[in-house]
Amino acid sequence: MISSLNHLSIFTRLILFCFVVAGTSSRAQIITIPLETSNNALVLQADEKKNLNIIYFGEKLLNNNEYASAPRVYRQTGDYTDLLRASYAPSGSRNLAEPAITVIHADGNTSLDLRYLSHKTEKVNDNISVLSIVLKDPVYDFQVVQYFKTYHAEDIIEQWSVISHQEKKDVTLQKYASGIVHLTADSYWLTQYHGDWAKEMQPEVSKITHGIKTLDSKLGTRANLFQPSVFMVSLDKPATEDEGTVLYGGLEWSGNFRVDIELDPQDNLRIIAGINNFASPYILKPKEEFRTPAFLYLLSHHGKGEASRKMHSWARKYKILDGEGSRLTLLNNWEATYFDFNEQKLFKLLKDTKDLGVDLFLLDDGWFANKYPRNGDTAGLGDWDENKSKLPNGITSLVKEAKNNQVKFGIWIEPEMVNPKSELYEKHPDWVIRQPKREEHYFRNQLVLDLTNPAVQDFVFKVVDDLFTKNPELAYIKWDCNAVIYNAYSASLKNQTHLYIDYVRGLYKVLERIRAKYPQVPMMLCSGGGGRVDYAALQYFTEFWPSDNTDPLERIYMQWEYSHFYPAIATSNHVTEWGKQPLKFRVDVAMMGKLGFDIVVHDLPEKDLKFCQEAIRNYNSLKSVIWHGDLYRVADPKEQSIASLLYVQNDKRTAVLFSYLVNNRYGEGSILPVKLKGLDASKRYRIRETNIYPGTQSSINPEQVYSGDFLMKVGFNPDVNNGRKSVVLVIEEVR
Ligand code: DGJ
Repeated sequence: MISSLNHLSIFTRLILFCFVVAGTSSRAQIITIPLETSNNALVLQADEKKNLNIIYFGEKLLNNNEYASAPRVYRQTGDYTDLLRASYAPSGSRNLAEPAITVIHADGNTSLDLRYLSHKTEKVNDNISVLSIVLKDPVYDFQVVQYFKTYHAEDIIEQWSVISHQEKKDVTLQKYASGIVHLTADSYWLTQYHGDWAKEMQPEVSKITHGIKTLDSKLGTRANLFQPSVFMVSLDKPATEDEGTVLYGGLEWSGNFRVDIELDPQDNLRIIAGINNFASPYILKPKEEFRTPAFLYLLSHHGKGEASRKMHSWARKYKILDGEGSRLTLLNNWEATYFDFNEQKLFKLLKDTKDLGVDLFLLDDGWFANKYPRNGDTAGLGDWDENKSKLPNGITSLVKEAKNNQVKFGIWIEPEMVNPKSELYEKHPDWVIRQPKREEHYFRNQLVLDLTNPAVQDFVFKVVDDLFTKNPELAYIKWDCNAVIYNAYSASLKNQTHLYIDYVRGLYKVLERIRAKYPQVPMMLCSGGGGRVDYAALQYFTEFWPSDNTDPLERIYMQWEYSHFYPAIATSNHVTEWGKQPLKFRVDVAMMGKLGFDIVVHDLPEKDLKFCQEAIRNYNSLKSVIWHGDLYRVADPKEQSIASLLYVQNDKRTAVLFSYLVNNRYGEGSILPVKLKGLDASKRYRIRETNIYPGTQSSINPEQVYSGDFLMKVGFNPDVNNGRKSVVLVIEEVR
């Protein structure tokens, strides 16, 4: 059983049995709405009482007249409500399961019923359509419009809702999810992620049991610190890279989220995703619209590899800013200097940037604040004037010096936050999120500014705008966000329970303004590591910082997990001093994404510097395959002693295989060949090793020719072993 349902009462089933339902309507006025993508169908059906249910979500049928028959072939127990498969389950009427929406009406009544009223489909282009369905309460003047945006080729659906009413007074929304997905299978397997600083994206796989499992965040900002909203659900058995049906999901929202995964009494799985309603009842005025963020999901029947390749091509094409464009390699000074630098030191680093051969120098934290200089993380945050003793000639002089070195210049900011030891805090204590009557509590010695306040939005916009106005050649921004929200309270907000939501809206408003004025400039999304990564934020950012943990061994695992959801072009990987591995290993790992460095270049031994310079040249020749090609995870470090990841250019003429030893026990290595994927079986390829450390020899014969067929069926041995712990191979068509 792949996926479908039965939620219908015996009565409804009888009706269905008696009337032949065809296409989108029938004599019984049952309305069936099939929503198809290239491989799947999500089928909604309004029954004769206008309850709107999802009757099928699974592989698409050849004949779409047959969808309406789906409910008849299930023999599950009755659902007692006619709502167990509701497309947007209300609460307070008949529903007995977790609702998508809970309200208190203007008259204090807490019941909601939602019935189908109408639907329409708008074609955006050949690949994208938007289905909207109007649901109305038969008693109260309250409606929800559900939206399903389908990306046909990528099998992706974005689902959101717009809630409104025309009641006499305000209505309180107690819960307001984006949407529900219903799945039916013999068993369900959840892959979820947890973490903390430097421990992002730790996977956990478990069999889903009856009841509710909730993935959520209540942190406000840096919302993914302990858990991101992305997850996978495999049907029948845990999916592998190439086999199994698996749903990838996530919420396009950069604040508190909530994903309820409920195995219901009929053994169907309901997944309800949306903004977390924690401490956030929303007061909705008559005629005001509450638009939820999009719940994004993708169903693949050929395992996790296909799912992530589809996710990547969707993200590059439709979500990530300049997702199909180019990126800048860079040298960052964070770990090279921390807060300890001055103009002379930076001039030296600008020269290093040129010597290394990367595109840009990125100046990190510590360049600002005078009354309370930013010489550590305890002071100065919020005071965005250049620190006069470190930078007497300001940023302008650095941008100029960068130009003299033929490199670009970028800068770090954290404009949403403030140290209590700052002029900003002294001047505008009312701009800070804190409980006026309670003791302040700090995260990294700082507090969060109140982005619900338009004056604060202007301030944050101005931080960026001033930098660009004064330095039009500024080429890059790293936008950090280190603190969570404690003591949630806004001095300017009328409804305190709107704070978490309006904060995120305020952030998006600022980012909109920035992008309206500076549409192209690359920006990195950073949050004390990977504390804020999602597809709403990535519409404004070209890349994200996955973690401050840059130990390459840790990164192999972490980047592996991120790669399920985010493409290499958006994943910033820097070579640092973290970890015990040699420089080559660190560079090879960082090359599997957007390459950067955070090391003291002028301290590098000659051979190391030579290696880095050559590796950057190699990267420049391969980066388009890594950024725009298809990713195949071909050897899983969680299951064997090596990790191998393969990037294949779309025309299948070039591919890059990265392999690493992850187990130091005696004799471990690539004992068996690695079976390659995604090549053209009929093409002939040569394989050469690249990123060879000066003075060492490759064990790979670059003259040997292999068919794609051989490489995919028999495989290729990268010859990874204790003496060759990381190996980068370029696979090129012989023509
Ligand atoms: C946290 C970031 O993750 C680091 O890369 C660095 O920018 C520091 N903040 C600076 O304070």
